[in-house]
Amino acid sequence: MKNNPNPGITYRFNVLFRIVAKELLRAFYHFVYRPLRPSVRFHCRNIFEGRNALIFANGEVTCVCADHGLINLGNVNDSSVEDIWKGKGFEDLRKSFRNNRLPLRHCAVCFAFEKIKKPSDDIYDITPFFWNTHIETTPVCNLECAICRRDEVEKHRGNARLSPDTVYRMLDEIIKHKTNKFVLFFGFGEPFLDKNIYDYVSYLKERFPEVIVSISTNGIPLDNENNVEKLLNTPLDIVLFSVDGITQEEYVKYRKGGDLKRALSAMERLVNKRQTKGLAHPYIVWQYLYFRWNDSDKSLRATVNHARKIGVDLLHFLPTRTPITGISWKNVLRRDSNVMYKFGSIDHDYNPHGRSRVIQVTDDMEEIPL
Ligand SMILES: C[S@@+](CC[C@H](N)C(=O)[O-])C[C@H]1O[C@@H](n2cnc3c(N)ncnc32)[C@H](O)[C@@H]1O
Repeated sequence: MKNNPNPGITYRFNVLFRIVAKELLRAFYHFVYRPLRPSVRFHCRNIFEGRNALIFANGEVTCVCADHGLINLGNVNDSSVEDIWKGKGFEDLRKSFRNNRLPLRHCAVCFAFEKIKKPSDDIYDITPFFWNTHIETTPVCNLECAICRRDEVEKHRGNARLSPDTVYRMLDEIIKHKTNKFVLFFGFGEPFLDKNIYDYVSYLKERFPEVIVSISTNGIPLDNENNVEKLLNTPLDIVLFSVDGITQEEYVKYRKGGDLKRALSAMERLVNKRQTKGLAHPYIVWQYLYFRWNDSDKSLRATVNHARKIGVDLLHFLPTRTPITGISWKNVLRRDSNVMYKFGSIDHDYNPHGRSRVIQVTDDMEEIPL
């Protein structure tokens, strides 16, 4: 695992800013919002409906994706996932929500936080099991992306890895409950550096075909014929390539240590090989995060054209607020900047946040609108 011992001023500023901003927002909800709207109830889709859980490589379960050990709700190395879901960690958080309090500073900015204006009697009922589960089988990565601090990952996970026995035990639970709509085999590492990942996908899909299994990758380990072949031998539903730039200079600002040519070549290789084999899966998504250094019209247009040329199924331009020093303000502030370009003939209702603008690109379109 790589380790950058010097976090740098940008990173420290970003961490501090986020802590202060979240605490201020949480105070606002408790001391301003709540007294003004006493009938509104605070609710969390993660801890009551299982909308998202992340299982780290050291076995710890969290509801907060953006943290490294901020909250530990139990450990799959010594408990079943079901016991953790029904156990003290989750229950303490639920108790706080039932008292109309936000238990964690992160709650104030979390996608799962809801303010229910007309609460029904059952808003605090809990579902039997998860709806969406992230499994970080490995925290090891070949890149050092600006915000994904390898030293923090290493400090938290150490040398711990989920053993295949533990992963299969968790998958058996998911298969037994059949409540998951999604299983995502990634956390903060690079999933294709785990040699077992292909077997995990096949095991799960063969026993629970309805679940949608997805993997996010920086793509570089797939610039390899053998790995692409192994991937296409699995019934994986979605593969998401995290490639944020169309020139090496733009790309490497965030994806430190990355090689754009290899990431693009991996995408192209997968598209071509899938076509040669006549397969309709996996659905191939190019995810491009907007930062202030990769958001010019020239770059975006070149990206759309390249995605069309390669033949990926979908290109997703996505605004992000992390790191704050990299924010593409014009896109964060534009309501319709979360946009997806659909190219291929393979149909899929991929829309992970349910609020992306979709542009269907057809063969007769000479100029594609930005
Ligand atoms: C941390 S990555 C690890 C998985 C894999 N190595 C990859 O690069 O896709 C997991 C997901 O987080 C997304 N991500 C990384 N940095 C982000 C940011 N600043 N804002 C929003 N999403 C981000 C990635 O694009 C990816 O889809």
